[in-house]
Amino acid sequence: MRDQISKLIKEIKETAVTGQEELEKYRLRFISRKGVMNTLFEEMKKVPNEKKKEMGQMLNELKQTAQEKFKTLIVSLEVEKKDTGADFMDLTLPPSSSELGSIHPITQTRNRIVSIFEKIGFNVSEGPEIEDDWHNFSALNFPPNHPAREMQDTFFVEKDPDIALRTHTSSVQVRVMENQKPPIRTLSPGRVFRNEAISARSHCIFHQVEGLYVNENVSFADLKQTIYYFVTEMFGKNTEVRFRPSYFPFTEPSAEVDISCFICGGEGCNICKHSGWVEIMGCGMVDPNVLTNCGIDPEKYTGFAFGMGIERITMLKYQISDIRLFTENDIRFLKQFQRLNY
Ligand code: DAH
Repeated sequence: MRDQISKLIKEIKETAVTGQEELEKYRLRFISRKGVMNTLFEEMKKVPNEKKKEMGQMLNELKQTAQEKFKTLIVSLEVEKKDTGADFMDLTLPPSSSELGSIHPITQTRNRIVSIFEKIGFNVSEGPEIEDDWHNFSALNFPPNHPAREMQDTFFVEKDPDIALRTHTSSVQVRVMENQKPPIRTLSPGRVFRNEAISARSHCIFHQVEGLYVNENVSFADLKQTIYYFVTEMFGKNTEVRFRPSYFPFTEPSAEVDISCFICGGEGCNICKHSGWVEIMGCGMVDPNVLTNCGIDPEKYTGFAFGMGIERITMLKYQISDIRLFTENDIRFLKQFQRLNY
């Protein structure tokens, strides 16, 4: 038995443990109740009384050696685990919070406009941002030398005078009328491009919503009533509306729509430039030439159209003084629109 114990002490000292699996093997053999210790303690019972003291001491020495090495191994392997970070995770720590995103103010305004018109039967149609001259200008009754076609207003694609980035969403009315029979009630939101210097008031990329209604017996009274409805929904019941005669090649007669300034209530302030009114859109009765260009009989059908800038509506509603804020992605600006305000 003495030899057996000496051999085991030697074995313990020589056993190399480098990982968790080997540590467990070590534990089962030298520490566990079912390991070698158990067998030795059983044998102890058979040892004659006069030798018991000596054997007992050796056995204790063996036990201590085994346990001390076990403790050291646990500590060193634990340190290693932490060093690599592989298996170490403190599950008691609170989770780190993630930032909540929100819908861009331009998208919020677009969605609000669409939902107002959807209630009175308008659907949504879209067209390409890269357009040909026909859909952006010619079909809309722009004369060949109209200033809007000039290089300083329009971004042409690769110097091809026939292809350009659309300068307004009115191009979508042409596409809809070419492909659908009246009655047509459609709203076309989208991005438009103009070759303009970027400043607080204008940008070369912005958004518009175009509206179009074509049917038998559509009158200017229908247009006015539709605009009144929109203004009430968007800006509130007490907002006043006025129509100012204007000119667009694709509508006859044409008008611009002003609303009473909702900041000063018509008294005069910076937003309305002390006039008491702010302009929100252009509109008019679809010119018979446009209907003909799109394959719709102007003797049978009439229609109205309107167009507004989404940035402009949003700037008025939220008193935003610089259009560049919409595209700068400044989180301090965007955070103010986190909750849907419409
Ligand atoms: N297309 C015009 C623009 O970009 C806006 C517009 C005015 C649209 C009058 C219309 C309209 O449909 O009838 O300035």
